[in-house]
Amino acid sequence: MATVRLLVLVLGLLGPHWPNKVSASWMYLGISGASISPSLLPQNNPTMGPRGPEPEDLTGPTVEVRALCSSLPGVTQQQIEICLQHPNLMPVVAAGAAKSIAECKHQFKHERWNCSTQDDQNNLFGTTLERGSKETAFIYAISSAGVVHSVTQACSSGNLTDCNCDTTNQGQSTKEGWKWGGCSDNLKYGMTFARNFVDVVEKRKKHGIRTKMNLHNNAAGRKVLSTLMGTKCRCHGVSGSCEVKTCWNHMPSFTEVGDALKKKYGMAVQISSKNRLRRKIKANKRRDDNVKKGDLIHIHKSPNYCVEDVDKGIPGTAGRVCNKTSTGPDSCGLLCCGRGYNTQVLTHIERCHCKFVWCCYVKCKTCETKVDLHTCK
Ligand SMILES: *[C@@H]1O[C@H](CO)[C@@H](O)[C@H](O)[C@H]1NC(C)=O
Ligand SMILES: *[C@@H]1O[C@H](CO)[C@@H](O)[C@H](O)[C@H]1NC(C)=O
Ligand SMILES: *[C@@H]1O[C@H](CO)[C@@H](O)[C@H](O)[C@H]1NC(C)=O
Repeated sequence: MATVRLLVLVLGLLGPHWPNKVSASWMYLGISGASISPSLLPQNNPTMGPRGPEPEDLTGPTVEVRALCSSLPGVTQQQIEICLQHPNLMPVVAAGAAKSIAECKHQFKHERWNCSTQDDQNNLFGTTLERGSKETAFIYAISSAGVVHSVTQACSSGNLTDCNCDTTNQGQSTKEGWKWGGCSDNLKYGMTFARNFVDVVEKRKKHGIRTKMNLHNNAAGRKVLSTLMGTKCRCHGVSGSCEVKTCWNHMPSFTEVGDALKKKYGMAVQISSKNRLRRKIKANKRRDDNVKKGDLIHIHKSPNYCVEDVDKGIPGTAGRVCNKTSTGPDSCGLLCCGRGYNTQVLTHIERCHCKFVWCCYVKCKTCETKVDLHTCK
């Protein structure tokens, strides 16, 4: 306990030195993490009975919780307030941010912009967050969805006092003849929490077009996740017959959310700073001029991400591995932006032509295979 207090004290002292810059982002929690020891949680406060009323109502957050909340990097004052109310959700938010960053890297691994991050809370995605391009839109959408996904999952795990399974439909029968049962993923709680925690960042800013863009993309990420919700069922009955079927709401895997948002990124709609819609005619020829809730919007064109630009935080594609036979974005032509590529020959040595020899061993040869590795100039 003494060490925990000391740690918290140190974190608390560090806290005020983290500036609340515009480019600071709560998503940095995905890199730095946030761990809250069970001893810090209000319900385990020794002065409170385990079944007592909400501790906050009487004593407010403990010193430890206060110190921890103000030590979270990248967050705004309003997010600290939310932390004080829900300290045990902070590791969950951090996990959500981490899985969003990982999914972003996965979705863009073959592209010029590959969602690379830096261990710097004011510069997490280079300057991508300061721009208002479709890459920015993707980051906002996926991280908002990431919080929904993590919180919803945590609610279903039954480990939180803040929420649990959604039991609204529990026991009801449907026309199709099955019953709601099991643990339905509590999307409502996750959506509300994410909306509060993620959107609150925009509240301290001027109400401009960029705020509108961010809020729209945050909501789009949540919307896309919610449209992927499905139902899972289990049969009960004698030897596997399906006399009784219980079903519950089931959240998609986060990769499914990433795939869907990547598609949305491909069709992102540019809105002009005059707030009128400017739609790229090429893209999908969709006629309706209304941006849908699940669409991503952006206000700036993307840079081409080809050449290193330290000021703009663009690493460029020099040195990236390209695929000579691909016709996609990872092809050497596209990835290297026409600059050409270097080829290295790598030699792989492996066991091959293995034969079973009577009796009883396996005899192999050693084969050398040469693999070309192409990297952008
Ligand atoms: C819930 O808590 C238990 C015990 O602390 C832990 O073993 C388990 O991994 C937790 N489950 C989730 C999904 O976090
Ligand atoms: C992403 O791009 C950067 C900069 O070109 C490079 O250093 C990094 O290795 C790339 N990441 C992956 C996963 O390819
Ligand atoms: C290169 O691209 C081709 C065609 O898309 C694909 O079949 C192959 O697996 C890729 N190679 C690597 C090393 O990714």
